[in-house]
Amino acid sequence: MSLLSSDPNLNFALGSRTLDAVTNPTTTGAPAAAPVAPALDDPQTATPYADAIAAYADQDWVRLDVPGHQASHQGQPGLVDYFGHRTLALDVPPLTEGIDHGPQPTPLVRSARLAARAWGARKTWFLTNGASKGNLVTNLALRGLGTEVIVQRSVHSSVVDGLALAGLDAYFAFPSIDPELGIAHGVTPDELDRRLTEHPDAAAAYVVTPSYFGAVADVSRLADVAHAHGVPLVVDEAWGSHFGFHPDLPVNALRLGADVVISSTHKLAGSLTQSALLHLGEGPFADRLEPLLERAFRSMQSTSSSAILMTSLDLARRQLAVNGRDTIGGTLDVAAKIRGRVMAEGRFRDTGDCIAAYPDVFAVDPLRVVIDTRVGGISGHEARALLFAEHDIHLEMSTDAVVVAVLGAGAQPDVDRFVDALHALPQRGAAQRRHIALPPNGERATSVRDAYFAPSEVLPAEQAIGRVSSDTLAAYPPGIPNLLPGEVISREVVEFLQATVAAPFGHVRGGVVGDVSQLRVVAG
Ligand SMILES: Cc1ncc(COP(=O)(O)O)c(C=O)c1O
Repeated sequence: MSLLSSDPNLNFALGSRTLDAVTNPTTTGAPAAAPVAPALDDPQTATPYADAIAAYADQDWVRLDVPGHQASHQGQPGLVDYFGHRTLALDVPPLTEGIDHGPQPTPLVRSARLAARAWGARKTWFLTNGASKGNLVTNLALRGLGTEVIVQRSVHSSVVDGLALAGLDAYFAFPSIDPELGIAHGVTPDELDRRLTEHPDAAAAYVVTPSYFGAVADVSRLADVAHAHGVPLVVDEAWGSHFGFHPDLPVNALRLGADVVISSTHKLAGSLTQSALLHLGEGPFADRLEPLLERAFRSMQSTSSSAILMTSLDLARRQLAVNGRDTIGGTLDVAAKIRGRVMAEGRFRDTGDCIAAYPDVFAVDPLRVVIDTRVGGISGHEARALLFAEHDIHLEMSTDAVVVAVLGAGAQPDVDRFVDALHALPQRGAAQRRHIALPPNGERATSVRDAYFAPSEVLPAEQAIGRVSSDTLAAYPPGIPNLLPGEVISREVVEFLQATVAAPFGHVRGGVVGDVSQLRVVAG
């Protein structure tokens, strides 16, 4: 018989204390532990997982377990000096009684439920390898529904990796492209409807919204379209983890009817880098999807998930849910000031209105400020590099035409320092130069998976033109593949990728060599 009460009020948050209470109920040696509220009544002010981790870190353990640093100065003086003893003490191993193991609901389960309630999910999983892992898990789960999916062509490269991993055949739905700014937006409900009609065996629709540049698609209508075709809507909402926490921000995808949502919480929602959330919505497919997602999550989650990353998810969720309305209001003011000053100075251009004018753009995230610098005589890449090197200003990304400033939910960066530095940038004649245009997608020759696993050879880029790519190559950021496995390599794509690498800060993800001088192609 369990010695623990079935009333969670009478159990303790921290396992060691619970065990202590079980094995020696009269002990007074352990620090006094506060009883916890029943899990379903945990308020959003609560952080059960973070509290349990902190309580563990504050105890005087003899560590004979992993992680091998054991928070010991003798073992890892460099680590302790660099990070501080407390950080190492918080690096608590998984399956620790009373934290993520033991009497249910554990603090980890309670914190995941709080996250689910905060975002409006039926169930939420804590991820420790970013939204990239969320996309891999989701693709693997979708394979349980069928073999074909409709996928927005401008998804993140991790979705494409997921297609190859799961063996899904993708048919693409296309976003509009702004050729001037070189950016892709969203997918219209009509486009999704068309693709689902063309491919009636598709088992799911997979879209990305918001885009890297803050363009938000009409998720509510996309969900209606998907459901009318009898399939779930998956939304990669990596860039919208803060949505729904302030009335002037777009509503989040779960509350608009999405069935699965991947949320890169470390982006604008403020948790630590690499932490992310996978949400299952309450929609018509939830019963079928839940066991599939659960199994795929277990296959792909590390068996040593970082307690520090997961703690940051718990703390960031509380901050958004409890204080988001106030703090995000301040950030919205900052964004408005940046836009106001850029417009008033007249040299550069805030692109928000141009982006909003596209038919697939339903709303624009105000916390992404996309500034056209090329009209002011300097390319986006040059502007970003100079701001970094000479002004200690680190912008999220650039294209040939624009720089993108990301404002974390609740952050209050120095508007004047940024806008003054921007206007101090030299003229480089960028408006007159030939633009690095976003290339059209290559013709599709085989499925992603067939090309990914086919025998391949590596050729000089010039000779690879006209051959079928084995790899996914994406200018990064934004990480939207310019070339997919199975696509025919065009001269325009090669020139674009090489020009991207050559630009300041330029980086292309996924190639055999960093400078795109060689490409891996399907042998034959
Ligand atoms: C749309 C989109 N999805 C997924 C990811 C991957 O996110 P993470 O870096 O958290 O793995 C990114 C990264 O930028 C992204 O832009």
